[in-house]
Amino acid sequence: MATRKKSSGMLISFEGSEGSGKSTQIALLAERLQHAGREVLSVREPGGTEIGEQVRNIIVHNSKGDEMCAETELLLFAAARAQLVREVIMPALQRGTVVLSDRYLDSSTVYQGIGRNLGADPVERINRFAIGNVMPDVTIVIDVPTEVSLARLRQRASDLPDRMERENVSFYKKVREGYLVLAKGMPERFVVVDGTKPTRTVEKQIWTAVQKRLG
Ligand code: TYD
Repeated sequence: MATRKKSSGMLISFEGSEGSGKSTQIALLAERLQHAGREVLSVREPGGTEIGEQVRNIIVHNSKGDEMCAETELLLFAAARAQLVREVIMPALQRGTVVLSDRYLDSSTVYQGIGRNLGADPVERINRFAIGNVMPDVTIVIDVPTEVSLARLRQRASDLPDRMERENVSFYKKVREGYLVLAKGMPERFVVVDGTKPTRTVEKQIWTAVQKRLG
């Protein structure tokens, strides 16, 4: 008798600058996947676990945060990620869940490695240690020009910009370029979508790319 193959889990990470529209697209993809009968879990980095949220607080909201050196920042992001992988992502993948992660290892490669000039080698080694063998199956980069990203950030009238958001324009330009270079080097994992297009257009492109990989 033929047995029905259990759906295998899948990790999809979303990357891009601030204001690229990641969270909107993650919510839309989650809906699509649920309609397709998949179990979906959305997580965010840094955070996603109690320990991770505490680490997030230190990185993002610490009043002394401006004095934090780049090495500490890298290690804190990695610490939050290590916890998230083992506590949440691995068990979910084992259950056959599709995990959508708002940022993952590539954020460290780009923000700390390139933006903060720590270099590719230490960041890659620390990333590897933090995630074990849990690499994303697909990474969606939502690309927006730096000017658009900053303008969108300013419109988020909610509160004062946090520490990361106070960075200057050249930092964000490096971040954007960093993602594009990374994606070019690993076309089998990365999908770059134009985040200046209407939400529904971006959504369809993402869904097409994900469906291809879901099989
Ligand atoms: P967050 O408020 O989640 O921003 P966004 O909505 O743009 O994702 O803050 C996360 C910030 O941390 C963001 O500026 C990117 C940065 N970051 C790193 O620098 N390195 C990392 O490894 C991660 C996960 C995030």
